[in-house]
Amino acid sequence: MSLTEVQRPANRRERYRFMPTAASPPFAIGGILVSLLLPAVGYLSGDVRVMFTVHLFLGAFWFGTAVLGAVVLGPVMGSPSEEANAEGFVPKMNLLMEPVSVGVVGSGIGLADKMGLWASATPSLWAAFALAIALLVLGFGPLHKFTAGMFDEIAAAGTDHERLASLNKKYGRLSMVEHLLMIAIVATMSGLRWGF
Ligand code: HEM
Repeated sequence: MSLTEVQRPANRRERYRFMPTAASPPFAIGGILVSLLLPAVGYLSGDVRVMFTVHLFLGAFWFGTAVLGAVVLGPVMGSPSEEANAEGFVPKMNLLMEPVSVGVVGSGIGLADKMGLWASATPSLWAAFALAIALLVLGFGPLHKFTAGMFDEIAAAGTDHERLASLNKKYGRLSMVEHLLMIAIVATMSGLRWGF
């Protein structure tokens, strides 16, 4: 299914009904399930190595996607092209990245628990936790607002290109802050590794 089968959402409920259709339902379900189930499986496995691998996989995916978006996709595509939107790029990213961010933070907190690190939390662990909260607030707050607005415009038959471009620009600017926080959190991962 593609965006040609949806229209401008009239309200929030409609938006989240249209979004999985535009992204393709199997993608939406798969993305959300994998991001949220993997940390749960890792935690329940009782094996710290499984938890570690899940955290690495999701963390690398999140960080890699953010860097790719900032360094390649953003500058090359500028504003998302009609074709990319028809393939559901914006709704797919909307539906995938938020659960992935929850999965990374959840698996990190779970991993720290499995490794017994919370008993005497180091400055790096607290820094990672604080940065994670900031990343989630940013992602589920303003960044979500911008991408949801972009989806509404793309889904609309009469796209308001001015609004779309303005939202895209705001998103690009604020995502710089997100990337700085991500670089900082990866630095704290190194701190954790070496016991700081
Ligand atoms: C963008 C978010 C994150 C990314 C990209 C990320 C990435 C990574 C990577 C690459 C490692 C392996 C390197 C190492 O062994 O240190 C790691 C380990 C780890 N992460 Fe994260 N992480 C993120 C968030 C978090 C959060 C929020 C927590 C907990 C509050 C956390 C807790 C841990 C722990 C406990 C380890 C194991 C450290 C060790 O080996 O001693 N992570 N993470």
